Amino acid sequence: MATSLAVQYPPGPEQGFFDGLRSQLRRNPLAFMSAVARDYGDVVCLRFFHLRTYLIFHPDHIEDVIVNSARKFIKGRVLRANRFLFGNGLLTSEGEFWLRQRRMMQPAFHRNRIANYASAMTDCTMQLMHSWRDGQQLDIHDAMMRLTLRVVGKTLFHADVERDAPEVGENLQTLLEFTMDFRRLLMTPSWLPTPLNLKAKRAVRDLTRIIDRIIEQRRDSGEDAGDLLSLLIHAQDEDGSHMTTQQLRDEALTLFLAGHETTASTLSWTWLLLSQNPRVEQKLHAELDSVLGGRTPTLDDLPRLPYTSNVITESMRLYPPAWAMARLAIEDHTLGDFPVPKGTGVSAITYVVHRDPRWYDNPEEFRPERWEGDLLKRIPRFAYFPFGYGPRQCIGNSFALMEANLVLATIAQHFRPTLVPGYPVVPLASITLRPRHGLQVQLQSRLR
Ligand code: HEM
Repeated sequence: MATSLAVQYPPGPEQGFFDGLRSQLRRNPLAFMSAVARDYGDVVCLRFFHLRTYLIFHPDHIEDVIVNSARKFIKGRVLRANRFLFGNGLLTSEGEFWLRQRRMMQPAFHRNRIANYASAMTDCTMQLMHSWRDGQQLDIHDAMMRLTLRVVGKTLFHADVERDAPEVGENLQTLLEFTMDFRRLLMTPSWLPTPLNLKAKRAVRDLTRIIDRIIEQRRDSGEDAGDLLSLLIHAQDEDGSHMTTQQLRDEALTLFLAGHETTASTLSWTWLLLSQNPRVEQKLHAELDSVLGGRTPTLDDLPRLPYTSNVITESMRLYPPAWAMARLAIEDHTLGDFPVPKGTGVSAITYVVHRDPRWYDNPEEFRPERWEGDLLKRIPRFAYFPFGYGPRQCIGNSFALMEANLVLATIAQHFRPTLVPGYPVVPLASITLRPRHGLQVQLQSRLR
């Protein structure tokens, strides 16, 4: 089933051939990943000096690394090298500490809890649309980023964030720009005083100051605002202990960063796909019009909007915001026929697996109907995994799906965002997958 290729640096005798691949990896990692999977099979080895990374493309191998043998792996090099961004939050922490934090935070993301956030999500969306006009042109990715940041702010910090919203937004933007260049993230040590490193550290410092103040105020007031922060402040370990301010801050910053850009990108890619597929868009409108009839959706409406849900599912198949999941072996392991010595990187390439013709007919086609039957039962578990699986599965999974569905259902009833003709849509594959130049659209009102 699997073959292997060593793309190495410094170059071997096949230099000319690999040079082409290497520059493609730099210029367009998605095309590179797709090409090596097609040409070399399910396991591909990359070597850069002494660093060795396996790219894996088969669901069984991915399940082995992410779930069955999860205890032999920790998070990958890029996240570990940039821990100053997230502190010791859930995304980057490991071992007993991670498990304790995850157990304390899990209840805050329980379906019943997050149900309370539905109205905050639709309120923020309605507010966003107040300023929208028929015929207006705007960057819909920028709009989705602001919207999802506002939603995380409102649900995590309640009203507290309103005052600091511009400063929080600006600093988060700096950090997101910092994470745009994948190669730099991997190759430039975070302790080097480069202008970008210094700027990112300043942004972390500013955010830390704001978050600390919010935590202190909330602690002093003793108020239970019913938001995530209150839940985290009151969360208790098995021995009855609470999180320290430092832990609260790291978790809050992690949720801010992990919780808004991914959902914003899902929505942006969905607007692009709808604008390119009028037949799907019409079916979506028909469902929304018949079930909601212009009303703002509530959480109870979502089960009655199966096509809307399939549009989001299909959009995350084609453009998974977490386009790859990286691990580092901390014990020797064997992957099929391949030895994975301790210290080897392993990356599951979600983007390629989600477009594999072994699991999907016409994989490049945007067809939400493919999810109507029993497809999920017929394909391997790791043929579709936008939120990962296993112990490190996304804690915000239900939150994100609820938000994406509610925002889509709310906006699509009022506006059709259509891509401005000729606008260059270039996917940027860094830690997440987002449109490099944003998405310039023209709004068409549906209520004329
Ligand atoms: C469409 C939106 C989202 C996608 C596609 C997504 C995807 C993912 C994936 C694939 C992972 C696992 C990474 C790995 O195993 O290496 C993850 C982890 C995580 N996500 Fe999300 N995510 C989304 C939204 C959110 C939201 C809304 C939040 C919080 C409000 C969130 C918070 C987290 C956290 C804290 C982790 C680390 C969990 C742990 O290791 O215990 N995510 N996410």
